[in-house]
Amino acid sequence: MKLTKKDWIFIAVAVAILATFFLITGKEKTKHVPYDTNHRPYFEVLQKTGNKIEAEKECEECHNDRVIPFPKGHPPKNRCLLCHKMIQPRQ
Ligand code: HEC
Ligand code: HEC
Repeated sequence: MKLTKKDWIFIAVAVAILATFFLITGKEKTKHVPYDTNHRPYFEVLQKTGNKIEAEKECEECHNDRVIPFPKGHPPKNRCLLCHKMIQPRQ
């Protein structure tokens, strides 16, 4: 059977969907941002602005080599909230 261009597009789309699925389920294992006194202000920023970049601006004031070092082999450290979800517990 000869694969046409259309078949290849179909395969590419299927692979992309599967890859996204595995990426997302993999990321779920990453620790969530704790909802405690240290982190609550940033939950509020996220809630108010709806903007993750705005909410994660100050993370590195504590999470850095001097104050709270990252675990060994931590992935590149910008954009915390893409990997560490902020999930607010129901009140
Ligand atoms: C005022 C200092 C401070 C700031 C700012 C801060 N953190 Fe933390 N963070 C801590 C401390 C202390 C801990 C360890 C104790 C704990 O679990 O609360 C921690 C723990 C964590 C953990 C690990 C939780 C776990 O279950 O082990 C994650 C993930 C995290 N912070 C993400 C963030 C992100 C993302 C931001 C920015 C939105 C941020 N932190 C801002 C102090 C801070
Ligand atoms: C590319 C994804 C990614 C990004 C971006 C990222 N992290 Fe992580 N982080 C991880 C993974 C994976 C781990 C180890 C698995 C886990 O969460 O236990 C981890 C672990 C941590 C831990 C230790 C959790 C523990 O075991 O107690 C802290 C604290 C943390 N990250 C904070 C941050 C902060 C703050 C930022 C932004 C400056 C950040 N991370 C950005 C993926 C990421």
